[in-house]
Amino acid sequence: MSTTTPAPPGRSLRRTRPPRRATGPDLVPVLDGRYYTDPGWWETDRRLVFERSWLCVARADEVPAAGDFVRVDAGAESVLVVRGRDGQVHAYRNLCRHRGAVLCLEPRGSFGKRIRCVYHAWTYGLDGRLVAAPNIHDMPDLVKDDFGLHRVRVEQWLGYVWVNLDAAAEPLREQVRPQLLARLGTEATFDRYGIGDLAVGHTITYDVASNWKCVIENFMECYHCASIHPELTAALPQFRSGYGTVSGGVGAGAAFAPTIGGFSRSGRASRAPLPGLLPEDDRLFYGVICRPNVFVILVPDHVAFFRLEPVDVTHTRVTVDWLFSPDAMARQDFDPSDAVEILDITNRQDFDACQRCQLGMRSSAYGGVLVPAEHVITEFYDWYLTAVGERERS
Ligand code: FES
Ligand SMILES: [Fe+2]
Repeated sequence: MSTTTPAPPGRSLRRTRPPRRATGPDLVPVLDGRYYTDPGWWETDRRLVFERSWLCVARADEVPAAGDFVRVDAGAESVLVVRGRDGQVHAYRNLCRHRGAVLCLEPRGSFGKRIRCVYHAWTYGLDGRLVAAPNIHDMPDLVKDDFGLHRVRVEQWLGYVWVNLDAAAEPLREQVRPQLLARLGTEATFDRYGIGDLAVGHTITYDVASNWKCVIENFMECYHCASIHPELTAALPQFRSGYGTVSGGVGAGAAFAPTIGGFSRSGRASRAPLPGLLPEDDRLFYGVICRPNVFVILVPDHVAFFRLEPVDVTHTRVTVDWLFSPDAMARQDFDPSDAVEILDITNRQDFDACQRCQLGMRSSAYGGVLVPAEHVITEFYDWYLTAVGERERS
């Protein structure tokens, strides 16, 4: 009789893999499971990916008024996104400059006119400057200008707030532009959807028991589409080929089935196309990934905006906003449910598959191959391994 002793929490199980065989050009080995399961690699992901990238963390309209804030995570760091009195969105590390207490535990709310640490009452303006501290006039060495909150770089794009802990990082546009060009061949296609002018018609948050990389990889390939997405492939028949839009080549969009008028559960088109679209955008579906944490679906009458928040090594929170034109939403008969339903069904199918992969990674025999329809994932592997300093594929 043999018994198995679980590994202590926080320590990874020792993994063994079968010796790698030559697989031929059609078959590319998947990444080692430790990248998806090992708490040590999770820390590496947080430090080298999420603390060095522009991350989409909130909608700008979540902080509409001066003093409004949301607390978000960027890697291992807690960050406060705050609307200032100047009307601008600012971001600060959630860290008091006195003795390092976190300033805020609530996920969102309003600071009013000041950000006050509850411990010793050091108080900061919405612009991050230290404005008051008990006995401050008796401490000439305490120069207010030296003790402002640690600023975090922040930009707004597409109606969302993006932060980057890396003070030396290039502007957000430099992170996303190469990805848009590689995916669509031109930024103009993406820009025509006018995402920054759209409004949220519906939001669903999914808690996915899967590493964030599994979720991204699933978005990239459509080899699974024929087997797990009957509703999606009925609307977009070419997905049955195993190639989606991300894996379909530069500029690829998927044509709607001739039997449907819109990308919706019923197949009906319920809204006019978004303003700014051209006839060539009609009846097309595009998927666009903006690493590391955004996936966007473009269809003529709406946009679905996916934002990933890695929670821990085996959990990812995915928030999906369905975005519509304000004109469409102002109509008495506006109802997003038909558009929401087809994608919600698809998302649940996808996330179930991601969770199955994550469970499989617990096996000491875990491994596998990317078939040609999935080779697009090697682009993600290359980017990821470069980011974490492991250029050679393991
Ligand atoms: S730790 Fe914030 S005021 Fe002392
Ligand atoms: Fe899918």
